[in-house]
Amino acid sequence: MTKPLPIIIDTDPGQDDAVAILLALASPEFEVLGITAVAGNVPLALTEINARKICELAGRPEIKVFAGAVRPLLRPLVTAEYVHGQTGLDGPVWSDPKMPLQKQHAVDFIVETLMTHEAGTITLCVLGPMTNIALALIREPRIASRIKRIVAMGGGFFEGGNTTPAAEFNIYVDPHAARAVFDADTPMTLVPLDCTHQALSTAARIERFRSIKNKPGPAIAAMLSFSERFDEQKYGTDGGPLHDPCVMAWLLKPELFQSREVNVEIECESELTMGMTVVDWWRVTARKPNATVCRSINAQGFFDLLIERISRLP
Ligand code: RIB
Ligand code: CA
Repeated sequence: MTKPLPIIIDTDPGQDDAVAILLALASPEFEVLGITAVAGNVPLALTEINARKICELAGRPEIKVFAGAVRPLLRPLVTAEYVHGQTGLDGPVWSDPKMPLQKQHAVDFIVETLMTHEAGTITLCVLGPMTNIALALIREPRIASRIKRIVAMGGGFFEGGNTTPAAEFNIYVDPHAARAVFDADTPMTLVPLDCTHQALSTAARIERFRSIKNKPGPAIAAMLSFSERFDEQKYGTDGGPLHDPCVMAWLLKPELFQSREVNVEIECESELTMGMTVVDWWRVTARKPNATVCRSINAQGFFDLLIERISRLP
C-alpha cells in the first residue's frame, strides 16, 4: 500500500462536515495531521467542540483539534443555525467532549505543519469558510508553494447559490478569504453546488446509514435526518445535498467526478453578487485556469463508498 496522504481538515461542523470527517478517519488512505475549526455554520466556540465530538464518535480521541478564526477577514459572521440547529450538530444526543482542544492557534498549526513537513506533501481539505487558510497564507506566504493541493467544498456556477441567488454559503461568509486562496497559485480543486446537489441523502440512503452496526452509522442517520430537512423543503427533493464528504471522496475516488481546469474569480465588491464564484466553464475569457472545478458526481458510487467506509468505524 502506498503511504497515506497527510491531510489537514479545516471545518465548521455542521452535520455534513461531520460525515466528511468520519469518512476521512475511516479511510486508511489518509493520515489526518489535525483538524482546524473555523466559524461558519455556527460560531467557533461550537465548531471546535463539534470537531472534538466527531473525533470521539469515530473512536479517535488522539486527533489534534485546533480553534481558528472567530469571524471572517472583513465581513461580519453569518451563521446557519436554521439548517444545522443551535448546536451545529443537532440530531443525535451528544455528550460533551473529553479530549482536549489544542492550545496552539489553528493558523499557527497550519503554517508550522506546512513549513516543517516536506514541501508538496500535505493536502488541505477545506469544508467551511476559507478564513483560516487565508490567514495562514497571509501569515506565511511561503506555504503557498508547499501545499500539495487544496480541495474545497464551495461555490456554484450553473447551479447558482444556496445563501443568495448568486453565492454558496462557505464563499459568501468570507469572500475575501476565498479570493486570497484562489489567488495563491496553489493547486486547487473546487467541489461546488453543481456537484454536491447531485449527492442527495435520500430516505433510502439515510436508512443504509441507520442500519450500520456501529455508533457512527446511526448517528449519521440522525444528523442527516435533521440537517437535510431544510434543503428537502427548499428544493422539493427526496433528501438534501450532502456537501462536504464530496471533498474526501474526490481524493479517494476522483473517477466518481467529472471536472475541468478553469478560471474561478470571487465577487467581493457588489452586495448583489457578493461571494459569487465566477467560473469560466466555457473558457470565454483569457483568464488563467486556477482550479480543477467539479461539475458532476456519480452519486450512487459516492454513497456506496461512504457506507462501506463508515461501516469500518467502531
Ligand atoms: O453550502 C454548503 C456548505 O456550507 C457546507 O460546507 C456546509 O457545511 C456549510 O458549511
Ligand atoms: Ca462545512
